[in-house]
Amino acid sequence: MDWKPDRKAKKAIYKQLAEYIENGIADGSFPTDKPLPSERYLATELQINRSTVVAAYDELESNGLIKRKRGSGTTISKDIWGITKKRIPSWRRYIESGSFLPNLPVVQRIRKEMVEHKLINLASGELSEDLFPIDSLREIISTRSFNGSLGYDHPQGNEILRNTITKHVQRYRRIETNPSSILITSGAQQALHLVVQCLLKPGDAVALEEPSYSYSLPIFKSAGLRPFYLPVNKDGIDPDDLLSLHKKHRIRMIFLNPIFQNPTGTLLHIDRRKKILELSSEHGIPVIEDDPYSLTSYTGEETPTLKSMDTHGNVLYISSLSKIVASGLRIGWIIGPKPVIERLSDAKQLVDFGHASFTQWIANDFLESDIFDSHIINLVKQLEKRRNQIVTSLRSYLKNKVDFHLPQGGIHLWCKLNKNINEVLLLEESIKRGVIYVPGSTMGLNKGFIRFTFARENEANINEGIKRFADAFNSI
Ligand SMILES: Cc1ncc(COP(=O)(O)O)c(C=O)c1O
Repeated sequence: MDWKPDRKAKKAIYKQLAEYIENGIADGSFPTDKPLPSERYLATELQINRSTVVAAYDELESNGLIKRKRGSGTTISKDIWGITKKRIPSWRRYIESGSFLPNLPVVQRIRKEMVEHKLINLASGELSEDLFPIDSLREIISTRSFNGSLGYDHPQGNEILRNTITKHVQRYRRIETNPSSILITSGAQQALHLVVQCLLKPGDAVALEEPSYSYSLPIFKSAGLRPFYLPVNKDGIDPDDLLSLHKKHRIRMIFLNPIFQNPTGTLLHIDRRKKILELSSEHGIPVIEDDPYSLTSYTGEETPTLKSMDTHGNVLYISSLSKIVASGLRIGWIIGPKPVIERLSDAKQLVDFGHASFTQWIANDFLESDIFDSHIINLVKQLEKRRNQIVTSLRSYLKNKVDFHLPQGGIHLWCKLNKNINEVLLLEESIKRGVIYVPGSTMGLNKGFIRFTFARENEANINEGIKRFADAFNSI
């Protein structure tokens, strides 16, 4: 319960509580078709005397707002029009019937736990604060004289930044493009969302990797699409699976995260890349390449992006600064044929009138600075150390009770549990012990997997987190 009485206020606590409940009835937080919380529950939650709760309920009852019946609890009166201050829309019904689907309940639960409790965080797919280039960003902010416009910027995003991204993707991802084929987005997330909303229609079949980050997103189902899944093994998806899916369902678009995939950390094999591009042009299926991780290779080996191999213009390329600079900048981009980019940028205008200028120039100056290269080298070194730590800890505390593929880049480790275990119970036991991660079922169909993210905590915390996880695992 978020609300707490103000113990220093002059107003008696029972009055405050009565008002809180009345407002909650009015704004739909206490739905009219559900019983109100019990006296005992409220007394414990709010740490007040039960008699205070009774007094609040007495007041609401005498105003005709609620009914109390022995045995069946306290309910909201059926006829309360005119009694409360406002008319009451059934907010719950609105909340439940909106066409944009909510996050999976387990994802909501994980987020709530992370906000409310101090847990060792092996769940958030982001870097820890100490991996952000804070000093360089601070210097950019303090030394740069901002002389750009503060009006609405170009619908595709700031032109200087798009120029810089053109050079950046050519140098680091071997992609040839130009500023008019780029749209700046609020992270890769918004780019995915715009693609789904603008380029597909309800009933369209799309192919997603399984497991994958896309699997966990409700945006596909919200848009009325029919997702079909392509199993990911150590070399990524099998192009033959794509072909058979296409024959059966006429796939309209395929979403891939080919480099250091979230969650498996795998690389899509070069032969499979070629085959997928061939299939894409043979059957006219667009490929959405979601690539936030390609600059995080620990071996220094460069894997060509699909976009760099795409000679026919079949690939829309999405990336962002979230996993290599700072997720809070919310800078992402999508590269594709000009008409597609114009369509998406028109939609982005409708959604938010374009990207905030300040983070665009900070991103621009950082990408342009001499620090960028050394930042990436240092980041990758730190990520590799953390990857090594999680592997050492898993081997030490869980030995052969788990299996995993060793990622050569990225920030995630996909772990298979060699024991049939109740996923919900394992998560609860882990939270109790102060560690959180993402249960595999949010990202794929198969049971018995866990996604550990090792970028969000330092090595000592990773070790402690895995120790606590092992304790939870062994307790079940
Ligand atoms: C594969 C993949 N795509 C997209 C995103 C969204 O990231 P952002 O919007 O911060 O760029 C994530 C985040 O975890 C991801 O792993």
